Amino acid sequence: EQIEKNGYDHFMLKEIYEQPSAIVDTYRGRMLVDQGLIRMAGVDDNLTKFLNAKRIIIVACGTSWHAGLVAEYIFEDFARIPVEVEYASEFRYRNPVINQDDIVIAISQSGETADTMAAIKLAKEKGAFVFGVCNVVGSSISRETHAGAYTHAGPEIGVASTKAFTTQITVLSLIALKLAKEKGSISNSDFHLYLRELDLIPSKIEEALKSNEHITGVASEYKDASNFLYLGRGFNFPVALEGALKLKEISYIHAEGYPAAEMKHGPIALIDEMMPVVVIATRKGHYEKVISNIQEIKSRNGKIIGIVTEGDQEVRELADYVIEVPETVEAFTPLLTTIPLQLLSYHIALMLGKNVDQPRNLAKSVTVE
Ligand code: AGP
Repeated sequence: EQIEKNGYDHFMLKEIYEQPSAIVDTYRGRMLVDQGLIRMAGVDDNLTKFLNAKRIIIVACGTSWHAGLVAEYIFEDFARIPVEVEYASEFRYRNPVINQDDIVIAISQSGETADTMAAIKLAKEKGAFVFGVCNVVGSSISRETHAGAYTHAGPEIGVASTKAFTTQITVLSLIALKLAKEKGSISNSDFHLYLRELDLIPSKIEEALKSNEHITGVASEYKDASNFLYLGRGFNFPVALEGALKLKEISYIHAEGYPAAEMKHGPIALIDEMMPVVVIATRKGHYEKVISNIQEIKSRNGKIIGIVTEGDQEVRELADYVIEVPETVEAFTPLLTTIPLQLLSYHIALMLGKNVDQPRNLAKSVTVE
């Protein structure tokens, strides 16, 4: 096991640090930046179906569901296809309306999640085309779907999903960009810009990982809090959900993720000097609005940890701590903002003496319904 951890103390930490290379493995051979091309067999072979789709329904659980939520923003923005994101466990027990021209995308790291599998079977019965985004090659879900794309993230051992999340977003971004190009819903120059930006993401994650030591300090300051709030807007709302899930599952601290603007509809009542609030406040994406959310927290004495774009000054003046990530286009910010949140939960769990790789009550793949 020590050998498999490759010098890291835990699989989770190793997997966090593997993200730059995992993402390269995800897009290698698929994204040809110089030629301005995206090639994905599972999509290419079914291109007409994708282009004629009236709607995409994404089904998944947990972190994979969060990746689906990020994809909703990306698909709608790039490819102008309406997207619904469903918890597989809810979808399968409803009587969902599915049409022949719907595409169902099932996302699963393990490819073994029972609820996601059941949702796929239901969608197939109703005549939908089902596309899988799995990590584990040859897994049950990858076999049950009509077509798919692997994330190629390599084995993920830590129960808390990290590199699976960012590589799922990468695969889904490639699909959205490909469809956007085919449909002409983004300009050629934007298409090229997005390819170049995606290509830069691995080195920007390397940059973001350099905050590890600083994040250790933030973790030691707040590790004894009983509650955390995570706030984000737009593409980063799902990242807030994911940050909260990471903290809950490995540190057992209660945490909630919210769209920042929803705070005033309830959660703001929770804020006092005991409440650390992690706010994703990158310069791209509703920046001014998020700043006013931060001011609302500050005036109620909440503690603010801002996830900001490199060089940011405005949030720095208001926040107790800021953690910087490099700049990128808004749609790809989740690939960067999620990194400090993974590290924060890792360090807090470690300081609290929790079993980071195998948290209580949890299994790596949930094969029961
Ligand atoms: C993530 O950290 C969790 N352990 C969990 O939510 C997980 O993402 C979920 O069970 C789905 O798993 P899958 O991607 O293997 O289907």
